Amino acid sequence: MVEVNKADVLLGLQWGDEGKGKIVDVLTPHYKMVARFQGGPNAGHTLVFEGKKYILHTIPSGIFHRGCVNLVGNGVVLDPFIINNELDQLNLPLDVLKESLFVCGKAHLILPSHRLLDAAFEKKKGKGKIGSTLKGIGPAYTDKVARTGLRLADTASVTFREKYNALKEEHLRLAGDLGYALDELTLDGLSFPEYEDAWFQGLERLKALPRVQSEVFVNEALDKGARVLAEGAQGTLLDIDFGSYPYVTSSNTITAGACIGLGVAPTRIGEVFGVFKAYCTRVGSGPFPTEAVDEEATHLREQGNEYGSTTGRPRRCGWLDLPALRYAVMINGATRLIMTKVDVLNRMETIKVCVAYDLNGETQTLPPLSSGPDNLRPVYRELPGWQCSLENAETFEQLPQALLNYVAMIEDFVNVPVDIISTGPDRQQTLIRKGAGILKRLAVINEPQK
Ligand code: GDP
Ligand code: IMO
Ligand code: MG
Repeated sequence: MVEVNKADVLLGLQWGDEGKGKIVDVLTPHYKMVARFQGGPNAGHTLVFEGKKYILHTIPSGIFHRGCVNLVGNGVVLDPFIINNELDQLNLPLDVLKESLFVCGKAHLILPSHRLLDAAFEKKKGKGKIGSTLKGIGPAYTDKVARTGLRLADTASVTFREKYNALKEEHLRLAGDLGYALDELTLDGLSFPEYEDAWFQGLERLKALPRVQSEVFVNEALDKGARVLAEGAQGTLLDIDFGSYPYVTSSNTITAGACIGLGVAPTRIGEVFGVFKAYCTRVGSGPFPTEAVDEEATHLREQGNEYGSTTGRPRRCGWLDLPALRYAVMINGATRLIMTKVDVLNRMETIKVCVAYDLNGETQTLPPLSSGPDNLRPVYRELPGWQCSLENAETFEQLPQALLNYVAMIEDFVNVPVDIISTGPDRQQTLIRKGAGILKRLAVINEPQK
């Protein structure tokens, strides 16, 4: 039987910001295509190399490697204003851009009035707010599912402006019903009409990018033997179905989301790389059983620079939650693990790891289903920290024994190997384990795909 060429998936196993962007950038030389499959500008993926930092919101993290084809898939929601800013940041010559970035015509547009609605819904929720990034994600996906949304391909229609106005009016009416007025809102420092103007300017630039049908584009590339890496946004615990509903995002952030958001059959998914931090963070509301308080939280936040890439909000910080990680591994079928931000724990005397939960004296091994119950308490195991810098470790194997013990404990719990450890934000601060399965998957690490 002929071996089928399959796409690999890389995604977050926690509440987002696991360092997905950095790892995609590191792996990109071994792939011909990097494809985003869900989410939108609620994502902020940070890449650091050659002393510079870049934050991508919609554009896939393979964009800095010449020869890599980057695809924004049908499952993504697009804000032309934000994409325009991202393109400015990239500043790529037009001919390079046209070979490097492709967008699916089926992807839905986030209208300025979707952002208005996001703000109106959050305000209405008051204390129960989700803590949305206010990028219009929920309302845009709502219109998609309600079959009232506008897709990028619709912009070619002579009636596009008419449809845009009709949908906008509907949103304004709804926001008005919620008691939310247009002049209450500033969008990235602009008034609504200013934002709308800039949005339409951005739309022209977005329309000029090469347009494809992601399902055809990806499957044909796979048929020709190209290596494809699907890049997730957010994280498993923010998944609309499997996250801590309603404190979630509005898309499927898990492996199955890659099938839907690109048009790739489940039988064409190869390896699933699950990225997780050596501890946990969450931005926005919702349950977080291992959330730290006081000095522990401050230490993690400051050492890890835990402030949102998209909103600048301080992230909530806490300890690694192994039952939640094991759940995420299960739901994604993760085959290899990548642990990031290990250096953030360098100074810790003891490292706490949650191994179960206690609910009124009973042990639970599954993460909380939704926002409760409040009296769920993590059961911690404490491990000795390594209390040294990792800068001298040139290989995975040279990492301090206490850290290797931490890794072994995690692997034992979730039953999947940790193949890569990230010890800093820079591309080069990445250690791949000798003989790791991921090396075989990437064929020969020294021979990046042309
Ligand atoms: P993403 O959304 O999953 O791509 O992650 P973000 O970019 O939002 O957040 C990860 C943050 O941690 C960024 O500021 C990265 O530059 C940084 N980062 C990534 N890996 C490491 C690491 O191993 N150590 C440290 N200290 N920072 C890291
Ligand atoms: P990346 O891809 C962390 C969170 C928000 C909020 C909830 C819903 O950078 O990991 P939304 O704007 O989707 O309506 O917000 O989800 N959230 C993220 N948290 N990283 C992200 O993306 C996130 N995208 C959304 O903070 O709690
Ligand atoms: Mg992020």
